Amino acid sequence: MHLTDTQTAQFDTEGWVFLPELFDPAEIALLNREAHRIFAMDREEVFREKDGTTARTAFAAQNYNEAFRRLGRHPRLLDPVQQLLDGDVYMHQFKINAKAAFNGDVWQWHQDYGTWSRDDAMPEPRAMNIALFLEDVTEFNGALMFIPRSHRAGVLQAGHDVQTTSYPLWTIDAESITRLVDEGGMVSPKGKAGSAMLFHSNLVHASPANISPWDRTIVYLSLCHVDNHIRQFKRPEWMAHRDFTPLQALGDDCLATMEGAAAK
Ligand code: SIN
Ligand code: MN
Repeated sequence: MHLTDTQTAQFDTEGWVFLPELFDPAEIALLNREAHRIFAMDREEVFREKDGTTARTAFAAQNYNEAFRRLGRHPRLLDPVQQLLDGDVYMHQFKINAKAAFNGDVWQWHQDYGTWSRDDAMPEPRAMNIALFLEDVTEFNGALMFIPRSHRAGVLQAGHDVQTTSYPLWTIDAESITRLVDEGGMVSPKGKAGSAMLFHSNLVHASPANISPWDRTIVYLSLCHVDNHIRQFKRPEWMAHRDFTPLQALGDDCLATMEGAAAK
């Protein structure tokens, strides 16, 4: 799956690209079933919302679930990122965000590279997310909001918010967000389950709470150029991986041909 010149130009200028219906309904049904099974597991990698029960985010499922192991090496996700980062990549982080119906809490305004730089000493923003929708994302169920072009602002000042949600995050203040939105506006890519989006690691983004009756599960592969691996290991290995081996893509049918997909 190769990005066109128009798509790479959009990524450079705007900081994000949307890829509608990249995975088919059977592939998504398998992944979604496995995601909800993982949310029900009692594992340290599964963070809960403040209520202590609703799953918020599950880390590193590619290391303990066969369907997500395959997704983490899927050519439809790896190829465009290798193209944009110009070379081999390793998995810096892998997470499935639940944003559950009624109880899925906000993700405050932030840049992912802000965390990767401050917490993990990743040298440069030569890393990015590719996010895959496992459910339809609509105006009702907590779609992400991007500030286009904000990736050109470099790493912005941020405060470590350990209060707002159950998950500590380096967040950007209201004044900076107002200025960036004055300049770049806001977009909120939405679409069917199976759609994907790529976004620059310095792109400022957030998502509101989900008070709708519809879950909004999204899986994020945070891929980093192998030369740009992290230098500091203060977060758990399952949050900031230390295996810098270049990922080798599997076949395009690696999910379609899978049976069972039982967790190890
Ligand atoms: C994130 O920015 O890391 C998560 C946003 C979301 O899943 O809504
Ligand atoms: Mn983020």
